[in-house]
Amino acid sequence: MNVVKASIQDVPQMHKLINDFANRGDMLPRALSQIYENLRDYFVIRHGGSVIGCAALHVNWMDLGEIRSLAVDGSRQHEGLGGVLVEACVEEARSLGLPRVFCLTRQPAFFSKQGFVPVDRAQLPHKIWAECYYCPKFPDCDEFALIREVQAPVPDATA
Ligand SMILES: CC(C)(COP(=O)(O)OP(=O)(O)OC[C@H]1O[C@@H](n2cnc3c(N)ncnc32)[C@H](O)[C@@H]1OP(=O)(O)O)[C@@H](O)C(=O)NCCC(=O)NCCS
Repeated sequence: MNVVKASIQDVPQMHKLINDFANRGDMLPRALSQIYENLRDYFVIRHGGSVIGCAALHVNWMDLGEIRSLAVDGSRQHEGLGGVLVEACVEEARSLGLPRVFCLTRQPAFFSKQGFVPVDRAQLPHKIWAECYYCPKFPDCDEFALIREVQAPVPDATA
């Protein structure tokens, strides 16, 4: 199943996928405007004309990226798609030169399987908490912070 960068046509389905889970309290909701404005952050997996998974890599700072809005359609979970989406985000972080990516999640066990380790929230820059105002649970946060080191690409010795 191919992971590709999202296009404008994907947005209505991404919006529904994310917000169906957000309505269950699994993740932060996203307005259509937020998805359009950050569209270049997003990857999708499409199947049969439908978006069945999405995830975003957002650049927070010179040394930090964030994986956001990871969602896999309920009928397609446990097929490896979530892991593939995370790897696409990590690979993009690597190609951009970001040394670390983090996530805020209620699924810490899933992210542990993807190589993330728990991190003290106090170690993350204050800038990232701006997002929290969009969370209906604010300020009673029940998310876990996890982080993963991203190895730099090996320089091409022939270049
Ligand atoms: C979390 C989510 C993205 C996982 O997607 P998925 O496609 O089912 O995950 P994968 O099939 O790639 O699973 C990869 C591994 O993680 C495990 N895993 C999947 N969901 C898990 C969970 N909730 N807790 C612990 N492990 C989990 C799988 O068993 C698999 O393990 P394995 O490699 O040993 O077989 C999906 O359940 C989802 O969309 N949930 C609702 C939205 C959400 O909570 N998103 C996260 C917001 S930050």
